[in-house]
Amino acid sequence: MAGDKFLIWGGEGWVAGHLKELLQKQGKEVYSTTVRMENRESVLAELEKIQPTHVLNCAGVTGRPNVDWCEDNKEATVRSNVIGALNLTDCCWLKGIHITVFATGCIYHYDDAHPIGGKTFTEEDPANFSGSYYSATKSKVEEIMKQYSNALILRLRMPVSDDLHPRSFVTKIAKYEKVVDIPNSNTLLTDMLPASILLAEHKDTGVYNFTNPGAISHNEVLDLFAKYVRPGFTYKNFTVEEQSKILKAGRSNCELDTTKLVKKLKEYNYEIPEVHKAYEECFKRMAAGGTK
Ligand SMILES: NC(=O)c1ccc[n+]([C@@H]2O[C@H](COP(=O)([O-])OP(=O)(O)OC[C@H]3O[C@@H](n4cnc5c(N)ncnc54)[C@H](OP(=O)(O)O)[C@@H]3O)[C@@H](O)[C@H]2O)c1
Repeated sequence: MAGDKFLIWGGEGWVAGHLKELLQKQGKEVYSTTVRMENRESVLAELEKIQPTHVLNCAGVTGRPNVDWCEDNKEATVRSNVIGALNLTDCCWLKGIHITVFATGCIYHYDDAHPIGGKTFTEEDPANFSGSYYSATKSKVEEIMKQYSNALILRLRMPVSDDLHPRSFVTKIAKYEKVVDIPNSNTLLTDMLPASILLAEHKDTGVYNFTNPGAISHNEVLDLFAKYVRPGFTYKNFTVEEQSKILKAGRSNCELDTTKLVKKLKEYNYEIPEVHKAYEECFKRMAAGGTK
């Protein structure tokens, strides 16, 4: 919208890069920064310098090579994902700036009330997964951050790009020796990032499950990958119990309810495809782009 000025936090990150490219393609005024979120004076100075109307927060630690890292680096995790994330939202609030937070839906796991294929998790459901330090801190931060009237919190899960970037969920599971086979909500960036911009532009606030509708299992993803991108690709399965032996922290498996998101996006004439359909289109684009 006229006069909008976007500032992306965590500017060197994977999601941030996609977002910046998209905003530039849309002809929007966009800046990015790598200022540390926990450094209050620097954050305030950056907001003063750029004077954004919208901050898009893609910064945070997710751990390298994976979230197990957070188990051994709790202070660093808190500094970025708790103190930093809250500080940035607070500074934006003080300055009257809308902030969109790229958060996580990995705060739930299937339980008796929400079994596989059954009732899904809405934005109102309290988090029930704290099997990793990453997830445990993310859900607590969300509880506090959602009190801010300038904050839009988007819960991504297992983001996927149209290439085989190492951060993409498909790249990760295609490389694993063995995968579990559980249906999950996934966020296909090509479908979802334009939606995040629409919500930000309209200054929507509150929490949204931010995934394609539906759930898809690891096997279904890899079967489609073999069908469209890498014929002959094979994989092996193991159980969640076997998987837990090779991981330091637990992993969230769940399906999120996207009713609230779908309804809101309808107001802007934007539709997100169901996850199986979305993957088919994603893999067709991947193949057309020459990825093998
Ligand atoms: N990728 C996923 O699987 C996934 C899943 C669900 C949700 N998300 C959400 O999406 C966000 C972005 O993910 P991503 O995959 O793009 O991660 P990424 O590639 O690791 O990018 C995160 C960026 O944030 C920066 N950063 C970390 N701590 C910071 C701090 N305290 N202040 C300022 N910048 C900081 C990092 O910079 P340095 O490297 O210099 O520290 C990095 O450039 C995550 O924070 C997460 O909440 C991601």
